[in-house]
Amino acid sequence: MFNYLIILIIYLLSANVQGAEVRNEPIKPLPLHQPDLNLKLVDLGDRLFHDPRLSQDNSISCASCHVLSSGGTDRLPVSVGVGGAKGGIKAPTVYNSSFNFVQFWDGRVDTLEDQAAGPVHNPLEMNSNWTEVIGKLQNDQEIVVSFRSLFDDGITPENIVAAIAEFEKSLVTANSRFDRWLLGDDSALTDFELIGYRLFKSYGCISCHQGANVGGNLYAYMGAMGDYFKDRKSVVTTADFGRFNVTGKEDDKHFFKVPSLRLAAINSPYFHDASVQTLSEAVLVMGRYQLGREISASDVDAIVAFISSLLGEHHRLKP
Ligand code: HEC
Ligand code: HEC
Repeated sequence: MFNYLIILIIYLLSANVQGAEVRNEPIKPLPLHQPDLNLKLVDLGDRLFHDPRLSQDNSISCASCHVLSSGGTDRLPVSVGVGGAKGGIKAPTVYNSSFNFVQFWDGRVDTLEDQAAGPVHNPLEMNSNWTEVIGKLQNDQEIVVSFRSLFDDGITPENIVAAIAEFEKSLVTANSRFDRWLLGDDSALTDFELIGYRLFKSYGCISCHQGANVGGNLYAYMGAMGDYFKDRKSVVTTADFGRFNVTGKEDDKHFFKVPSLRLAAINSPYFHDASVQTLSEAVLVMGRYQLGREISASDVDAIVAFISSLLGEHHRLKP
């Protein structure tokens, strides 16, 4: 009997703690701690992420296009790779990318490990290959030793991408004011930001931008309520086809992975085509083309204030 009572009390206490922990909202806080990360692997991945030897002429590292201090992007309409080559789509942030259900705008790879091989081989990005990269790394005694201390088979393509992916998993911008509010701190948000969040839900933005990354967990059509690509007036490019480029299905044309809004406050320009410069304009365009609503200027301001409260912290990020 006494035992049952103890179990009941423990159950009630834990239920209570869990209940008090996170507000029941469609957006979830990013984890403050990641006890499962292998810190030695993170450190190696950090060095590789910043290593221009991953590119053909030793001029470009991952960090050239994903600048960690300023939001994990290059803030350019299209990225510039080896020899000044221009890509066809805007670089998304690498922060919180481990919370995306797939990688790239069109979701052509599932994991960060598979993703990392892409830019190394892309002629418009690093324009190299594993034989070339590994040849260069093998000449660096320090990096050879680091790989040996973590992997029996030393420097291999699999081990390089494992390290980079582990580093990317450490790029989490937790402890935003919005997350603190989610965790029960009523004073973390201003009234205006809270109004913005309510509008974000009532307009229906939340149906696409949700979860821990406030996006990154589904595909959506760009222009559900209006012909975005016709109105944009510039030529429709292959990149504009989005998910269609992966599946070849007509129904997937202009579908994109819904981008995360976690760092949207500091990552202009917006959209896969970088067609919009300011966050206010991006909110207006979303209202018009995704929801068929003309959002008033004051509502736009409140939604922008809410989106700004999603910006969390990371020691590399200096916004
Ligand atoms: C020349 C610039 C450039 C370089 C160098 C580069 N990237 Fe990217 N990165 C991009 C662009 C552009 C995209 C979007 C491409 C797309 O979606 O088709 C992207 C997408 C990504 C994504 C997907 C994020 C998301 O939300 O879908 C990750 C993760 C990423 N890069 C990591 C890396 C890593 C790791 C390296 C180094 C091995 C690297 N990038 C090198 C420009 C670059
Ligand atoms: C039907 C799904 C859907 C709805 C509803 C929706 N969005 Fe989006 N959102 C997207 C997609 C898809 C993109 C990427 C479009 C592109 O790049 O062409 C996007 C992009 C954005 C961006 C740009 C992010 C970046 O990094 O480029 C912002 C900001 C944004 N949405 C805010 C909002 C707001 C605010 C609302 C409500 C007014 C909203 N969205 C409603 C699907 C949606």
